[in-house]
Amino acid sequence: MSRLIVVSNRVPVPDKRGTAPAGGLAVALKTALEARGGLWLGWSGRSCGEDEIGPLTSVKEGNIEYALTDLTQQDVEEYYQGFANRVLWPICHYRLDLAEYGRREMAGYFRVNRFFASRLLPMLREDDLIWVHDYHLIPLAAELRRQGVRNRIGFFLHIPWPAPDVFLTMPVHEELLKGLTEYDVIGFQTVHDRENFADCLARQGLGKRLGTTRFMVGEQAFTAKPYPIGIETDEFAGIARRASETTLHRRMLQSLDGKALIIGVDRLDYSKGITQRIDAFETFLTRHPDSQRHVTLLQITPKSRSEVPEYEAMQRTVAEQAGRVNGALGTVDWVPIRYVNRSLRRPALAGLYRMAKLAMVTPLRDGMNLVAKEYVAAQNEEDPGVLLLSRFAGAAQELKEAVLVNPYDVEGTAEALARGLAMPLEERRQRWQGMMATLRENDVFAWCRAFLDDLSGNARTTAPSAAPPKTAGYRMTLDPEGTRRHRL
Ligand code: F6P
Repeated sequence: MSRLIVVSNRVPVPDKRGTAPAGGLAVALKTALEARGGLWLGWSGRSCGEDEIGPLTSVKEGNIEYALTDLTQQDVEEYYQGFANRVLWPICHYRLDLAEYGRREMAGYFRVNRFFASRLLPMLREDDLIWVHDYHLIPLAAELRRQGVRNRIGFFLHIPWPAPDVFLTMPVHEELLKGLTEYDVIGFQTVHDRENFADCLARQGLGKRLGTTRFMVGEQAFTAKPYPIGIETDEFAGIARRASETTLHRRMLQSLDGKALIIGVDRLDYSKGITQRIDAFETFLTRHPDSQRHVTLLQITPKSRSEVPEYEAMQRTVAEQAGRVNGALGTVDWVPIRYVNRSLRRPALAGLYRMAKLAMVTPLRDGMNLVAKEYVAAQNEEDPGVLLLSRFAGAAQELKEAVLVNPYDVEGTAEALARGLAMPLEERRQRWQGMMATLRENDVFAWCRAFLDDLSGNARTTAPSAAPPKTAGYRMTLDPEGTRRHRL
């Protein structure tokens, strides 16, 4: 079996006791890396001065090596905060109004991808399989090909791929599209995302479609397919069952004092629809006054990407909104919304999911949304809660038995909330069983196997040439600093 190389912006490095940070993706990839032996390369999360970039930091655990690189402050600003999170993220989440195109940031994004390629190159062996993750690293394969790499390279996009009318607003759309065609396998979360990508290729007149999943651009054939990411279903269900014995669980139950718990868990991000959700909850309370004092919305929202102005602004908006609703509707002994800006450990979260009568997972747009899946897995099969799920989350393609809502329709969501809270046990059970069967069948290990089978199985139609790839043009137009070298 070939060695596996994983490349992602962030790397879940195990702590000193050898425990990797919790999360299905980290566990599944770690399992695949253990089976094949391998390397996980990414950003250390640290920034430094231009002349201070040193050798890679390496952490070894069994036959896995975690290799981390620092980036310069300029790199972080242009590549991560700039192009990845102020252009690609809003565009892929249909927020054209928030995209801030800047040539400096675009150049920085391609430059850092070239830098990642140069860090990986000395460690590569001929038959390594390379699996690149997410929107930070779209041009990585093109950079590796340009430096003569012929290995099989796969890419998985964790976020949505937008429709052509949205994607093509981006000044470097052609470079990004062509960059993707340098991969052997491109994975999307849903059929819908893959079709949007196919429509972008067609609209640009790039290559032709050979079949449902096969495409050809120039001399090169590649696979583009949905691989909906899953969770560690049985493991998570077990954690939730055991969580009911913890002190936190008892304290929480006590503090609820018989009120029904509604839960929302999201990174503080404008794509998550948190303000619309609070509006819907407020509408529900005003239209169903008999529910007041009998329900509580627990919104757990760790802050994220605070250096990006749109995120900083959102922190204030949501805090003010929650405060306003609590002020208007709350009483001395009842707070409608408990708003918490911190992340919880998995067992605590699993226990809260199990306790909640209903989860509001209502993003405006989301690649998959694993909170939806974890909520379902955490339920008590005898008395499962209700999942209110945005039809614009990738998870809605699989979890058909959820109560699907349009998060832009605040009144509709409020009514769905009322229906969900009143849903009879038999219906809740039936819906839950359907969703749980799907989650068991397509857990994160199945997802990982499906992708790696395709990546290792498909033969490249033509060997990549040593000539510069089709993407090379962007260097001339966008990257005046393209020759800047990082010390290896
Ligand atoms: O889901 C997309 C994603 O960018 C992941 O890659 C990442 O782990 C998560 O969101 C959190 O974002 P960030 O790494 O910017 O804090």
